[in-house]
Amino acid sequence: MVRAGTGKRRTTNFVWICVGLLGAGLIADLLWASSSSSSSVYHSIASNWLPSKSDTLILPKTILQNNTTKGPSKDKKDGLPERVLTATFADLPAPELKWEKMASAPVPRLDGAAIQINNLLYVFAGYGTIDYVHSHVDIYNFTDNTWGGRFDMPKEMAHSHLGMATDGRYIYIVNGQYGPQCRGPTAHTFVLDTETKQWQKMPPLPVPRYAPATQLWRGRLHVMGGSKENRHTPALDHWSLAVKDGKALEKEWKTEIDIPRGGPHRACVVVDDRLYVIGGQEGDFMAKPGSPIFKCSRRNEVVYDDVYMLDDDMKWKVLPPMPKPDSHIEFAWVVINNSIVIVGGTTDKHPVTKKMTLVGEVLQFQLDTRKWSVVGKLPFRVKTTLVGFWNGWLYFTSGQRDKGPDDPAPRKVIGEMWRTKLSL
Ligand SMILES: *[C@@H]1O[C@H](CO)[C@@H](O)[C@H](O)[C@H]1NC(C)=O
Ligand SMILES: *[C@@H]1O[C@H](CO)[C@@H](O)[C@H](O)[C@H]1NC(C)=O
Ligand SMILES: *[C@@H]1O[C@H](CO)[C@@H](O)[C@H](O)[C@H]1NC(C)=O
Ligand SMILES: *[C@@H]1O[C@H](CO)[C@@H](O)[C@H](O)[C@H]1NC(C)=O
Repeated sequence: MVRAGTGKRRTTNFVWICVGLLGAGLIADLLWASSSSSSSVYHSIASNWLPSKSDTLILPKTILQNNTTKGPSKDKKDGLPERVLTATFADLPAPELKWEKMASAPVPRLDGAAIQINNLLYVFAGYGTIDYVHSHVDIYNFTDNTWGGRFDMPKEMAHSHLGMATDGRYIYIVNGQYGPQCRGPTAHTFVLDTETKQWQKMPPLPVPRYAPATQLWRGRLHVMGGSKENRHTPALDHWSLAVKDGKALEKEWKTEIDIPRGGPHRACVVVDDRLYVIGGQEGDFMAKPGSPIFKCSRRNEVVYDDVYMLDDDMKWKVLPPMPKPDSHIEFAWVVINNSIVIVGGTTDKHPVTKKMTLVGEVLQFQLDTRKWSVVGKLPFRVKTTLVGFWNGWLYFTSGQRDKGPDDPAPRKVIGEMWRTKLSL
């Protein structure tokens, strides 16, 4: 993978001229996730400045990727011809898929959570807007393609950055962030009996985490990584708790082998008695110091293409990386025919504009050959989407979509449900 080098002074000047031209005219009413860096005015302006049709910047050849066109080839001092890097530079070539729009969820959701049990997709929590979070569950029925069955979550349950896993009846829930904006996390854990809709408490985590990788494996609920209490610092800790039929069999979490890299928003999947942790990031938005509403402010994030696996040895093995770095995929995967299929996400920010870049592809990891491939294009780029698979159809709902085909930065929080016939 070509990684962005540091921008040359020429590029920096170009951006600063544009920033100067824009002056103070820009309104600060920016969607939090696509913009605003408290640490620098430059980010919030530059990331919202580019008009969708002419999203191009002159860049040195060193950060060239495939989705580029030739600019004027002048001889520079460093001998590198100038090229143009489009805003869509991170898109991968992908086959078209035919998508069908289904009934939208009752509410739009960003950073929600979802668990599929048979023909039902349980969709939890999430931000409706940056200032409003949901505390209920909606259910999508894949048999008749309808939404329904709304019920409340416990008052103490977090509203985003949750970890979840199921045994086919019980859903085990590790808390994340409690409340809107960039509020603090809690350590509570719960279990939901999907047959009776009853919630029970379980032993709290040793310390709270944001969006840790969470999965049931060999009779234990495993919780790995995530962000620490400040929302930004990656945690390496790995704990587990013995559970059975919706009950904790132990009073305390056991310490397990640290994960090689910490951080939130990864896919965590168990197939064939092996545990996989895929993608994710280090760093995240943080509450602005002193803000009474814990206002989110952007901080540095690095997105990863890492794949780690645990098996009998209980030692982390490194597997082939994803086709590109991908984060915000904790509920954006399904297992189909011995493959893990991942839908959308976020990838590295644009090297020059620093805009957040969403992912518009469906990725497949074949577990027997350990090969990644790009199996199709989504109707738009989308992150924190919630995914299910039923009767040959791949479904996704919710999340935050891009600004348009030419602009992969995040914009609208959606409740839309889409499906495509998938054949691997
Ligand atoms: C560019 O495309 C070629 C062939 O399509 C591929 O082999 C190569 O890995 C791509 N490079 C990047 C940086 O995506
Ligand atoms: C470049 O990006 C466009 C827009 O997303 C996409 O349609 C096209 O397939 C991409 N081309 C390559 C070579 O990556
Ligand atoms: C899902 O839809 C099917 C077909 O209408 C229906 O028989 C079934 O009871 C529904 N399941 C739930 C839990 O509502
Ligand atoms: C999974 O494998 C079965 C048996 O080979 C096949 O019939 C089915 O179409 C496959 N499903 C997908 C989604 O590729």
